[in-house]
Amino acid sequence: MTDLAAAVDRLAAGSLVAFPTETVYGLGADALSASAVRNVFQIKGRPATNPLIVHVADTAMARQVVADWPEEAERLARAFWPGPLTLVLPRRPELPAEVTAGGELVAVRCPDHPLTLELLRRFGRPLVGPSANRSGQVSPTTAAHVDFPPDQVLVLDGGPCRGGIESTVLALNPPRILRPGLITSRQLAQVLGREVQQASAPQSASPGQLERHYAPHTPAVLVQAEDWPAVRAGARRIALLASQELEPSAEVFLPMPADPRGYAERLYAGLREADDAGVELIAVLAPQGEDELWTAVRDRLRRATVRFEKP
Ligand code: TXA
Ligand code: MG
Repeated sequence: MTDLAAAVDRLAAGSLVAFPTETVYGLGADALSASAVRNVFQIKGRPATNPLIVHVADTAMARQVVADWPEEAERLARAFWPGPLTLVLPRRPELPAEVTAGGELVAVRCPDHPLTLELLRRFGRPLVGPSANRSGQVSPTTAAHVDFPPDQVLVLDGGPCRGGIESTVLALNPPRILRPGLITSRQLAQVLGREVQQASAPQSASPGQLERHYAPHTPAVLVQAEDWPAVRAGARRIALLASQELEPSAEVFLPMPADPRGYAERLYAGLREADDAGVELIAVLAPQGEDELWTAVRDRLRRATVRFEKP
């Protein structure tokens, strides 16, 4: 049996399948089955107050879960789907309440990965898909990083994720970004022909978004270059994630790309490598760029780390 056929069988049985996307790996289950959706919350240890994104093969499938498909949604889907844009719209009453954490709105997106699009078409039903990590931990960007028991989660290997951080979550009427991601407010505004509010810093506005999130097991701090000597002096074994080496040198230096796209793609794998390096502290040099993609990267970094406080 091919992986895809096995995956469809598992989903039909109410079981879970991790799938690749262009952002991070998702933990998939039949979005129309309340018990399958409850399995996702249970295995992730996810608070029931944090709603799930529903993944669809196309706009026709999106209409199976939303009560209304406004013209602006159609324009955005034409421009960005398949791709890293999640739209928040009124839900259909048939959708299990667990998916939306009891709310009236549902988040939908069409992921840009051939294997997962084929999975959605063959299964013929929408799939919930939170990132395939335990709640609060680092999102997986390779199949090997999906860490659940194989008898409970089948992993479809679609190679490393190109985007590296999660989709932009957008609410409509008026258009506003709830979680910053790979698609920027400027790109959205261009398609809509009106202003799109950026995520209100420092807190993004998606419900259930935890302050501590995307976090490695090893303590991690976000540092400014001028604080580095003090941070370095305070730890014997330290890993540094930065786009340039700093003096005095770290035990483990994990070079990060200087451009925001490259940085995003590398971020979660870099945090995992630092976690596996056997250090007592992970330091991340705070990136300074103005580009809106840096805002999305900083949003993840801020939740994955604590800020270094001068002693
Ligand atoms: O790129 C992504 O979006 C990945 C891949 C797998 O598709 N998925 C992902 O799911 O990041 P998750 O569960 O890790 O994050 C879902 C985000 C959360 O911030 C959640 O609060 C928000 O989407 N969200 C889900 N449903 C919502 C709703 N009805 N209203 C507002 N925000 C919602
Ligand atoms: Mg997540």
